[in-house]
Amino acid sequence: MIDQHLDPTDGERDFWRLIRDRRSVRRYQPRPVSRWLLERILTAAMWAPSAHNRQPWRFCVVETATQKLALSEAMGSRWRQDLTNDKADPEFIQLRVAVSHARLTGAAALVVAAVCMDDMDDYPDPSRAEAEWLMAVQSTALACQNLLLAAHHYGLGACWMCAPLFVPDTVRGILSLPSTWHPQALITLGYPAEEKEKERVPMGERVLWR
Ligand SMILES: Cc1cc2nc3c(=O)[nH]c(=O)nc-3n(C[C@H](O)[C@H](O)[C@H](O)COP(=O)(O)O)c2cc1C
Repeated sequence: MIDQHLDPTDGERDFWRLIRDRRSVRRYQPRPVSRWLLERILTAAMWAPSAHNRQPWRFCVVETATQKLALSEAMGSRWRQDLTNDKADPEFIQLRVAVSHARLTGAAALVVAAVCMDDMDDYPDPSRAEAEWLMAVQSTALACQNLLLAAHHYGLGACWMCAPLFVPDTVRGILSLPSTWHPQALITLGYPAEEKEKERVPMGERVLWR
């Protein structure tokens, strides 16, 4: 990745290590993550760019075993229902829900990322309203990426889970989130108990130059 013709500085090597070595980590050591560290990585999230600098992201950090369990059980139950309605194989359903449960309850902390439109612009027409909503979602995703990179920088593993998008009311209800928060993602965090490798498709398949 580092240009062969450059003699990379330490800073450059560190930068590419941060970007390239970050992986989605789904299994964690049973070791807590300090509040100080959680605040560091949330601070990184806050420094993401956002549309109009309105910072529409909201985060809820779930640290207690009771809340993790409640969230996992409620989300799992909804998922089981959905998969049953899809007529999925019962063994498959059992396995998927159990894996998800182990991931949520085995993480040292869960961070639910939500979008709040309170400070965003209000438009009367659906087209501009949708663009404004998308900008808020994009801004929140950038904050999450900062969070993932900061977690990696501090030696934590993390994984983005999309489940809250499918059951926003359940997540809002269990965590008593304000009604204006729209849950988008759940990020599991903890000291890694696995190593992962991933590849990317060549740049030529994703980039046009004009
Ligand atoms: C929007 C989004 C949704 C994702 N949802 C899930 C998910 O629900 N469960 C999961 O295990 N990983 C999820 N991931 C993680 C991806 O699977 C992962 O980023 C991808 O496989 C690339 O691997 P890497 O992050 O290790 O580079 C999600 C990532 C993104 C950006």
